Amino acid sequence: MTDSAAEKQFPVNLSVNGTTKPVTVPARRLLSDALRHDLELTGTHVGCEHGVCGACTVLVDGVPVRSCLMFAVQAEGHQITTVEGLAGTDGQLHPVQEAFRDCHALQCGFCTPGFLTTIAAALEGYEPGTTISDDEAREIVGGNLCRCTGYQNIVKAVGRAQEIRTQRAGLTPDVAANADTT
Ligand code: FES
Ligand code: FES
Repeated sequence: MTDSAAEKQFPVNLSVNGTTKPVTVPARRLLSDALRHDLELTGTHVGCEHGVCGACTVLVDGVPVRSCLMFAVQAEGHQITTVEGLAGTDGQLHPVQEAFRDCHALQCGFCTPGFLTTIAAALEGYEPGTTISDDEAREIVGGNLCRCTGYQNIVKAVGRAQEIRTQRAGLTPDVAANADTT
């Protein structure tokens, strides 16, 4: 008997991006692996697999979590949002997705899902109409690693995302937009 054949399997209902699906996984299956391999949501990327890079970040009940540090069985009863769930059901991009496009905030894109989910959660802490400074933006993205961009355009995209939220709310920013400071 192989190890995998002997390993006990557990039924789990995973609620991801508004849909609940049953999966059967060993207790040690990481949430990141369950998302990618069991649910085929490959937008969640896996880099370091030990909680450092942030590429695997998803939202658990709205809070950014390294999905490589969480077991799939722990996700039962929680609402998971992956990068695939950021856009609206009508297809409208999330402000942070639009901002990354506007600001050229990605190159290879491997780190991008983790940045998008992390920033999307942080934006919820700011009312539309307010602005996010570059220092605040750096604080928001400080836990995510990118090997390509040098971070400058990612920082700009945080401010731009808030500007887009403000525009969508029909408001005027309280100070000049900080998306393009060069
Ligand atoms: S893959 Fe999870 S933090 Fe790097
Ligand atoms: S865009 Fe390549 S790692 Fe960030």
